[in-house]
Amino acid sequence: MADEPNGGVTRKSLLKAAAIAVPVPLLLGAVARAQAASLEPTPLCDDGDDDTPPQIEGPYFKPSSPQRTSLLDPGMPGTRLTVSGYVFGTGCQPLTGVLLDFWQADNSGAYDMSGYKLRGHQYTGAGGAFTLTTVVPGLYPGRTRHIHVKAQAPNRPVLTTQLYFPGEPRNSTDSLYDARLLMNVRSGSGGREASFDFVLDVPAGPGTPPTSRPPAPGGTWAPNTAYPAGAQVTYGGVTYRCLQGHTSMAGWEPPNVPALWQRV
Ligand SMILES: [Fe+2]
Repeated sequence: MADEPNGGVTRKSLLKAAAIAVPVPLLLGAVARAQAASLEPTPLCDDGDDDTPPQIEGPYFKPSSPQRTSLLDPGMPGTRLTVSGYVFGTGCQPLTGVLLDFWQADNSGAYDMSGYKLRGHQYTGAGGAFTLTTVVPGLYPGRTRHIHVKAQAPNRPVLTTQLYFPGEPRNSTDSLYDARLLMNVRSGSGGREASFDFVLDVPAGPGTPPTSRPPAPGGTWAPNTAYPAGAQVTYGGVTYRCLQGHTSMAGWEPPNVPALWQRV
């Protein structure tokens, strides 16, 4: 498999596995086995991995959305949802300044075609990171649950695609559904927390050498440490609480693995 260059299990393949509901303890067991087989850090992005596949735009896109990372309006009904992740180039280099334009149906499955409710764009920050705060989109006839997005690195073509939720009954009947576009989703205290990493067709240039992961900000979190459930660490100036006991490893930093760490 392209995802397993060393015969082990990479973070990305683990996240894909998590998306099809493999229990976290089993994943951690796989990590331990992978570590035993190789001492190389688990990469955050896989060299040679496929680009994020495109999908049709659909009939509900509107240009000129407002720039914002939260699509929530006061009193907006629905289950709160955060989507976070990174945007990489094909050389696994994190891409800063990538335009991400999201649009989605509301809790009842309706798109706002007169205004900009549940529409917004943002730019990836240093390290290629993004976070979107919104609600879980409702269902509408003919489609499974999804979020639309356009992604464009500076001076590069626009990728139009859609993100999907695991475990949705309609995933098996929606002809547009693509498992490569599944987010990793877990239930959090205030709603759901999803993660997804984009890979855009941007080759690594001479000034942007490939990197296995974004720069590590300071904090008390450390790899190769046994953290019990409930333990608190800091990472990048943010405090996180451990949700499930595990031994940490490079590539599984708290902001990368919402299944294991929750912001407090
Ligand atoms: Fe749609």
